[in-house]
Amino acid sequence: MQSHKLLITGGAGFIGSHVVRLFLTKYPNYSIYNLDALTYAGNLENLKDVEHMPNYTFIKGDIKDAAFIQELFQKEQFDGVIHLAAESHVDRSIANPMEFVLTNVIGTVVLLNAARAIWNNNFDGKRFYHVSTDEVYGSLGEEGFFTEETAYDPRSPYSASKASSDHFVRAYHHTFYLPVVLSNCSNNYGSHQFPEKLIPLCIHNIKHNKALTIYGKGDNVRDWLWVNDHARAIDVIYHSGKIGETYNIGGFNEWKNIDLVKTLCKLMDEKLNRQPGTSEQLITYVKDRAGHDMRYAIDATKIKRELGWEPSLQFEEGLSKTIDWYLNNDEWLNHVTGGTYKNYYVSQYEKR
Ligand code: NAD
Ligand code: TYD
Repeated sequence: MQSHKLLITGGAGFIGSHVVRLFLTKYPNYSIYNLDALTYAGNLENLKDVEHMPNYTFIKGDIKDAAFIQELFQKEQFDGVIHLAAESHVDRSIANPMEFVLTNVIGTVVLLNAARAIWNNNFDGKRFYHVSTDEVYGSLGEEGFFTEETAYDPRSPYSASKASSDHFVRAYHHTFYLPVVLSNCSNNYGSHQFPEKLIPLCIHNIKHNKALTIYGKGDNVRDWLWVNDHARAIDVIYHSGKIGETYNIGGFNEWKNIDLVKTLCKLMDEKLNRQPGTSEQLITYVKDRAGHDMRYAIDATKIKRELGWEPSLQFEEGLSKTIDWYLNNDEWLNHVTGGTYKNYYVSQYEKR
């Protein structure tokens, strides 16, 4: 594709910044526009190493602002959209569901309307890619996996808002023939993740000798995928995924929270030259998350079979690289854990 104009929303966030970096470096002939409202989770420092690239433009803006988005699409005439901007943290959705409805549902529909208006039924070479989560499928027991056919059963305000946005994306395909593609991915980990999610929060707290808060008994299971592997999957799906289709993305890598946190403690003891067992003493069991989903596990055979994608990295290696990144990027951590983070931290954990 020559001079392809691609809008990536949420590109200053965790996954978005990895996607922007991959596309900027892999497709120098594309013009990449990163639209981000720079909420607490968005950080332009995540893209410091690539922001000078001639094919990159940052636009500060809110996907909820319909007039602004319509004008932007009219002006830039994007060929494609990869939509990642969202409120993404379950605990915040429990504290404030409405923000999730506004950004995740309304914001997505605002983007769909803007794409529909500029493409005006001329869909040749056009694509709207909606990035979603496995949490829309609900919670598994000990057996089974989420496939693309699993019925939606969201249980948190976050997953309900993402499920709703997925439905709107599919509805715009069926009703207006908008050329959409979707993916639902499992939990990501890696560099540049805001330290409110389990892995970066634990790394940060082990380093500072703070409590590692385990919700409930710690026996909830998540399927972890290295963020760069998610970015690779997004690349493959954007270019080769079939219009109207959904692809599940996962790591085939299930871990109980408590086992994962103990593994992190062990690796951190080694890297910080602490006595074995030191960091585990920080583990503190706290009140369970309301409506806490027990188990997520993705069956990612469709994307492997049809598009040839599979995870590239073993978990222990990925965790080790991730810890090294946080230990070597003090300045980034200090910046994102300043200010409003402190208020959030106190309200979430110190009063739990
Ligand atoms: P994140 O919270 O790190 O980043 C979200 C980004 O969106 C931030 O840069 C933020 O500033 C921006 N944003 C938020 N509201 C906005 C608005 N109204 N207008 C414009 N920009 C706005 O999230 P993430 O973990 O990188 O997740 C990205 C996407 O991937 C989300 O759609 C999420 O649902 C999905 N996803 C995440 C995971 C995961 O494990 N993190 C797994 C599967 C799917
Ligand atoms: P999280 O990283 O918030 O992702 P999600 O809720 O989207 O899966 O949480 C991952 C798991 O870790 C989840 O089961 C909740 C649990 N958890 C804790 O036990 N303690 C914590 O401090 C956090 C943030 C999460």
